[in-house]
Amino acid sequence: MTMNVIAKTAPGVIAPPLPEPRGPLSEAVIALLRRRPGDSEAGPALPATTAGADPLGEDLQLALYVCYELHYRGFADVAPEWEWEPSLLGLRAAMEREFLASLREGLPGGDDVSGAIEELLVEPVDADGVSQYLRDTGERRQLREYVAHRSIYHLKEADPQAWVIPRLDGRAKAALVAVEFDEYGGGRAERMHSRLFADLMEELDLDPAYGAYLDAAPAAMLATVNMMSMFGLHRAWRGALVGHFAVVEITSPPAAQRMASALERLGVGERGRQFFTEHVVADAVHEQVLRRDVIGGLLESEPELAADVVLGVQATCHLEDRLAEHLLGCWRSAPARSSSRRPL
Ligand SMILES: [Fe+2]
Ligand SMILES: [Fe+2]
Repeated sequence: MTMNVIAKTAPGVIAPPLPEPRGPLSEAVIALLRRRPGDSEAGPALPATTAGADPLGEDLQLALYVCYELHYRGFADVAPEWEWEPSLLGLRAAMEREFLASLREGLPGGDDVSGAIEELLVEPVDADGVSQYLRDTGERRQLREYVAHRSIYHLKEADPQAWVIPRLDGRAKAALVAVEFDEYGGGRAERMHSRLFADLMEELDLDPAYGAYLDAAPAAMLATVNMMSMFGLHRAWRGALVGHFAVVEITSPPAAQRMASALERLGVGERGRQFFTEHVVADAVHEQVLRRDVIGGLLESEPELAADVVLGVQATCHLEDRLAEHLLGCWRSAPARSSSRRPL
């Protein structure tokens, strides 16, 4: 049987509009996507290099985000064929090299996986992060900003990690899929973590549409998601993706507990709190599975990936710290500033 029907976006699944550019690189990428691939009409040329753009800055991070999004849901009125268009992939590769080089520069490196994981298991008593701030002093408008930013990931929660499945085998693969099964609601659409997050957004009077807050999200937020996409989409970085996933699961329960308290203090009802209360319980189990079976299984069959696992752990912590610095820097300044690029 010949397959002559091109898959269309499923009914009810609406791709977001293209975002506003933030500089010459994102401008070039977005302008290109408004055309048809292979269009012979002369259009603006795509740069072949990143031309000195700040690897962690607004322009490069948005351009990279837009390239990666073609592998997820794409954008409204953008031809799906752009996903594998060579000149765009060439520019994406140049951006990835810059992004990765800047990440590596700021990280200690090494190949001590147990040491890197153990550091995550102990939270410093004086830890003073975003979840502590929101639990103790944050205002509702700051909570809304935080949730809007995080929606860039949580409305596609578990998707970037799903790319790694075919790159794993045996114990690591079986265990990672078991965790992903929970992330996707264990077969129940209404229990998908992305759905629980959308419920939370509704409770906060935010728009739960996929990608609705892309223009509002600062580069520090986009970088955390770009890192997941980069590690997930490259088989070469399967070790780093697994290290990243372990950090997410290990650090989640205590932070989710604080977020549940923050929501309660700020008057968000039960439906809105479920995203976090679910993570307090589920991730206590996921953490064990990730450490014992996913990382354990991967390193048993491919011990040479230890340094990549450490890279994934350190890169995730580093980019989360940068995001926290941005948010807390804005909220604690006098007078307090918004952390969002746009009013919500
Ligand atoms: Fe989750
Ligand atoms: Fe989880």
